[in-house]
Amino acid sequence: MDAHPVADVVNCRTMSASVHYRGLGDVLVVHLQVLLDLELIGAEVLELVARGIANPLAQAALDEHREQAPAQIARLHQGLDLLGAAGERRSSGLAAGLADDLHQALEATGEPDARDAALIAGVQAWKHAEIAAYGTARAWAERLGRAELVALLTRSLDEEAICDGRLSAIAEHLVNLDAAL
Ligand SMILES: [Fe+2]
Repeated sequence: MDAHPVADVVNCRTMSASVHYRGLGDVLVVHLQVLLDLELIGAEVLELVARGIANPLAQAALDEHREQAPAQIARLHQGLDLLGAAGERRSSGLAAGLADDLHQALEATGEPDARDAALIAGVQAWKHAEIAAYGTARAWAERLGRAELVALLTRSLDEEAICDGRLSAIAEHLVNLDAAL
């Protein structure tokens, strides 16, 4: 049995209920509930990575982004409320798989810069999943004429993109260079 905190976080996920789509609005609700799961698990996993990563700039970037998590989660609750849906998380294999990969990097031994490169890659995979999910949700919200929801999703999407860019810069200009020595 795996006793690592990342596994504990993933094992606490709620189970998926069955889905019935009457139209794009229902698809959007399910998508936002999956995003909520991704954000809630992501916030906890990100804290473990921030504590475990060696590079101070990467740690600062992760800590700064972690402070945005409560607002992102609140926006998803607000968005689900706007759609008249329950603010419940819906588990998907996406968060579990991403957490598994980060778990593996956190448990890794050896050269700290190489481990940091793997951790940053794992966090960026998570950010890319969120960026894709927010982008899709925003496109659907636009299609449905939900301007208030579009604005909420755009704010979170922008925050994710900024975090991703910062991590790319730190990896490309520092961590990857040191790891390659
Ligand atoms: Fe996020």
